[in-house]
Amino acid sequence: MNPQTIGNIIRELREDKGLTQMQLAARLNVSDKTVSKWETGGGYPDITQIEPLAKTLIWDHFAVKKVKEPDEAHMPAIEEIEDEYYITFNHPMSKDHYISFVAAVAYDGVEIIKLYPEGNPELRVRRSRTRYIYFFCNKDGLFRCKMK
Ligand SMILES: [Fe+2]
Repeated sequence: MNPQTIGNIIRELREDKGLTQMQLAARLNVSDKTVSKWETGGGYPDITQIEPLAKTLIWDHFAVKKVKEPDEAHMPAIEEIEDEYYITFNHPMSKDHYISFVAAVAYDGVEIIKLYPEGNPELRVRRSRTRYIYFFCNKDGLFRCKMK
């Protein structure tokens, strides 16, 4: 994933949370110039920033919402293809009801795939070390699947 794509995801999540670059920087103990650099594709967050960044922008964001097991309408189809999981959803992707992101959580990191309204709800994530797949429906909340 190129730095601009990562930067766009950081900016969208930060704005969803209603934080300024300065406020996010303060929570992560970095300068607002650093946050600006990430968001404009001028560089990747340092590996040591990934966990606090994910905690601040993702997990804290959904802390008040219950993480659910997927129901029938949100059950992903997950195929193992070589060293990846190929994940598809039979879920609406309209402007007002869509899966907004998928996060593959491993013990050593998080891979986040942003999905968009009117886009295809399909993606690939690396298989090795992935223990949980989290995904968020903008109407129905956060879901989690435990992987083998
Ligand atoms: Fe939904």
